[in-house]
Amino acid sequence: MTSAPSQLPPWRPLLKAAQRKEGRSPMSRWLQLATVASDGSPRVRTLVFRGWREGSTLELFTDARSTKVEDLAGEPRAELCWLLPKARCQFRLRGVALKLAPETQQEREQAHWMQLRPEGRALWGWPAPGQPLEATAHFPSAILDGTPTPDSFALLSLEIHQVELLELTGSPHRRRRWIANNGWQVTDLNP
Ligand SMILES: Cc1cc2nc3c(=O)[nH]c(=O)nc-3n(C[C@H](O)[C@H](O)[C@H](O)COP(=O)(O)O)c2cc1C
Repeated sequence: MTSAPSQLPPWRPLLKAAQRKEGRSPMSRWLQLATVASDGSPRVRTLVFRGWREGSTLELFTDARSTKVEDLAGEPRAELCWLLPKARCQFRLRGVALKLAPETQQEREQAHWMQLRPEGRALWGWPAPGQPLEATAHFPSAILDGTPTPDSFALLSLEIHQVELLELTGSPHRRRRWIANNGWQVTDLNP
């Protein structure tokens, strides 16, 4: 089955429903981002889902100095794994990190930065992630409203082109794959 390109991807309402089952748990927004490092080896870590832009571009925030940014600059293809335990399902989203025009990137980063709470912004005032901790290092607990967007703040935009959903709720389990190809084509798979 194929859906028209302008419609919301058919897997989005399923993901939303699974997120809703988590209730107020922060788990509904935690996902794992897998990248490939410059030596070809895999890297994976947890990030907070920050929202959708258009139908299938997923937004994440990170530190521009972190290694994932370097990974994605070298190999923009990435995979996300999103476990929604209450719904007993797993989404695997394949995509590519978009390289936006510098003005667009800056505009979007600024809009997101302004919407963060001061405590939420604090992380981007911390020393470079992954570097040895220095005794004199300063870790602010908040960054006040009105502070310009720091260079450390990075918005990642991942355009998703393939989604796999595995649902463990019944027996047998149910596995489906959607591929973006002038609309979204779905195939049922063996679990
Ligand atoms: C629950 C949770 C949420 C996290 N959210 C983010 C996030 O939204 N962005 C981020 O860059 N790192 C986040 N982290 C930290 C990353 O998992 C990772 O440790 C850090 O980004 C450095 O990764 P890298 O060295 O592979 O670039 C989170 C960690 C946890 C445990």
